[in-house]
Amino acid sequence: MPTAASDDLKNVPRHIAIIMDGNGRWAKERGLPRTEGHRAGADTVRRVTEGCGKFGVEYLTLYAFSSENWKRPKREVDALMKLLEQFLRVKTPEMQEQNIRLQAIGRLNDLPKSCQEQLHRSIETTSQNTGLTLILALSYGGREEIIDGVKSLIDSVERGHLDKGMIDGEVFSKHLYTRYYPDPDLLIRTSGELRLSNFLLWQLSYTEFYITERLWPDFNEDDLRDAIRAYGKRQRRFGTV
Ligand code: FPP
Repeated sequence: MPTAASDDLKNVPRHIAIIMDGNGRWAKERGLPRTEGHRAGADTVRRVTEGCGKFGVEYLTLYAFSSENWKRPKREVDALMKLLEQFLRVKTPEMQEQNIRLQAIGRLNDLPKSCQEQLHRSIETTSQNTGLTLILALSYGGREEIIDGVKSLIDSVERGHLDKGMIDGEVFSKHLYTRYYPDPDLLIRTSGELRLSNFLLWQLSYTEFYITERLWPDFNEDDLRDAIRAYGKRQRRFGTV
């Protein structure tokens, strides 16, 4: 439920998706290794998750690791996987206290075994929570998701569970990783880049975009509030007049 602190926020988006960008630049500005930027970025994840819970957002999807991120230097990939596992281990009790339900989307089988195990433990532990749903996109790519969705559709047709003529947008949505969640209302991208980077290509069709120059490790609750305020002023028409 929204608290007194969020009273000035009208029309809070039900689902926020975030492209968390700028960790590397944040570290470079300070003469630090890129991995320190990711570490600081993980602290922002905690802050933003708490902020979303406080403002009454129901779903928060974070682009934590893309299909393309596997092409980064092995040292950086290993550090990100370790950071993710550690984050999950340390934050799961906090998610329990804050009534947060953890979910994940992407080709999760690509993740290192220990990371997968911790992820499934955290998802299981928090599965009965009824507050904010935090969805981590891991080894996620929008095109890959669509391809997996098409394969799943073909499978359903071949097994005789689905008639080809019945396939429409709604049916297709049920074959995507995101089938349990509503489409995002607001997409936030930090660090000023103007691209989608293969994130939620299907689901963002009618989503409002908010781009900020702020680098992800510097993004704070006030920035989140600004984004939600800007969203509140938008007129969503979904293609109508
Ligand atoms: C983009 O910054 C960020 C990522 C590729 C990874 C996001 C990861 C985190 C925020 C930390 C770990 C996440 C969790 C959930 C614990 P970049 O490296 O592309 O930055 P740059 O564009 O400035 O180089």
